Amino acid sequence: MSKVWLLVTIAMMAIISVTKATSINYSDALAKSILFYEGQRSGLLPHSQRMKWRKNSALQDGHDINMDMVGGYYDAGDNVKFNFPMAFTTTMLAWSVLEFGDLMGSERKHALEAIRWGSDYFLKATNSPDKIVAQVGDPNKDHDCWERPEDMDTPRTTYYLTPQKPGSELSAEIAAALAASSIAFRKTDAQYSKLLLVRAYKVFDFANKYRGSYNNSVGDGACPFYCDISGYMDELIWGAAWLYKATKTAYYWDFVKSNVQSLGSFVEFGWESKNAGINILVSQWAMNDSSSASPFISNADNFICSLLPTSSTKSVSYTKGGLLFKQGASSNLQCTTALSFLLVVYARYMHAVKKTIHCSNEVADPTRLIKLAKSQVDYILGKNPQGMSYMVGYGAKFPQKIHHRGSTLPSMAMHPQHLGCRDGDQYFKSDKPNLNMLTGAVVGGPAGNDSFQDSRYNPGETEPTTYINAPFVGLLAYFNKPTLV
Ligand SMILES: *[C@@H]1O[C@H](CO)[C@@H](O)[C@H](O)[C@H]1NC(C)=O
Ligand SMILES: *[C@@H]1O[C@H](CO)[C@@H](O)[C@H](O)[C@H]1NC(C)=O
Ligand SMILES: *[C@@H]1O[C@H](CO)[C@@H](O)[C@H](O)[C@H]1NC(C)=O
Ligand SMILES: *[C@@H]1O[C@H](CO)[C@@H](O)[C@H](O)[C@H]1NC(C)=O
Repeated sequence: MSKVWLLVTIAMMAIISVTKATSINYSDALAKSILFYEGQRSGLLPHSQRMKWRKNSALQDGHDINMDMVGGYYDAGDNVKFNFPMAFTTTMLAWSVLEFGDLMGSERKHALEAIRWGSDYFLKATNSPDKIVAQVGDPNKDHDCWERPEDMDTPRTTYYLTPQKPGSELSAEIAAALAASSIAFRKTDAQYSKLLLVRAYKVFDFANKYRGSYNNSVGDGACPFYCDISGYMDELIWGAAWLYKATKTAYYWDFVKSNVQSLGSFVEFGWESKNAGINILVSQWAMNDSSSASPFISNADNFICSLLPTSSTKSVSYTKGGLLFKQGASSNLQCTTALSFLLVVYARYMHAVKKTIHCSNEVADPTRLIKLAKSQVDYILGKNPQGMSYMVGYGAKFPQKIHHRGSTLPSMAMHPQHLGCRDGDQYFKSDKPNLNMLTGAVVGGPAGNDSFQDSRYNPGETEPTTYINAPFVGLLAYFNKPTLV
């Protein structure tokens, strides 16, 4: 072989290997993003459990108040069941299935199982009249230990709301989760769907009738963990919007319209603030109907303009590597996945009515929104300056020392003896990778300079949460079978 040909061949091989390393397998990532929820399960695990290193845990939850509160999800790397982010997670999993379920193929079944693990638990949490369970597990005591869920011996305090100690944001988010899940199950399990909807009505009434913030009712169980800073009006409107979507009952639409003015125009969407999500959700039915367009469509358009990297009204930042980054947010990828989800959803609604958006210095068509969202998804899965994926178990290089108790500690099969509160410290401090793979977990993600410190001491970057993954499930389903470029 001549020298020139050898060089050409080497160059071509290099190109091929680069392409291979960066080509993304969305279907693989989709399956893993849903599997992650099995790793977060609390309660009695079914035979169908695929993440085998996890075992039954917290089988007495609710005992202290004579309720059965077994089940639900641990929110992140600890063992508390925080119902506020859990409800948001369930709503977003359901929204993912409603928008993109048709593109999920055989994974749709698993996505519905993930929703049901949440909705079953919320049926329990709302099963007593005039009482709604707010969370299970004393977070301060829990965070003092590095313990497997299967061993947990910290106080499993059940915190709950009553008419005298209300929590409108928490109960309205549970109503949203029940209503959204009810739509998701309509075709495959009509009876269950009905049950969820009937409960959603009741829970929304409770949220609306007894107004107040769960901050105050639950006290140091809520703050500073999942403290609701922005108030409860956004959740009440969000809950009403989901109930309207589920029932088309005028009462809920009137509620949304008559309260929308109380929303700020923040570019926020996540477990704490629902603002941007409300406008996008409502735009679906407001778009074709000019009488109900105001102010939802212009709010949604302004929101999109505030995300576009070249827009003069941009209010988020992007790292040099191209990642949407919100200053001050720990666990930044929760913002990236939630906002990207809204981009794709809105792009599809826009496409259906051939709409474009006029930002102050540019015009955006649906393709523009899709491309921006795709750049975010691809960054998370490996197209980034670190050349790594931020999803555990996906790709050649991914986080190894995630801040997650169950993943760090030896499994029950490996170490059947009880490990007490601080027996886990040696594993926490170890330089070695975690012992159990929490497949599909997307972590908090890199810093604003695209750097990533793979360390259990850095939960802002290495802790996974259920609400980072939930919108990502929908995004992956879409990019596995994109209908707009
Ligand atoms: C994507 O991943 C799936 C599941 O791991 C695998 O079956 C499939 O062959 C992969 N596709 C490509 C194009 O590599
Ligand atoms: C919740 O508590 C935090 C911290 O005490 C406070 O800043 C915030 O205003 C409270 N939110 C509501 C809605 O009361
Ligand atoms: C809005 O109109 C478009 C085009 O006629 C249609 O495809 C879409 O389904 C409509 N959306 C709703 C929510 O009615
Ligand atoms: C990047 O940011 C991280 C986190 O803020 C910081 O620790 C690190 O020193 C920065 N690296 C560079 C090269 O600036």
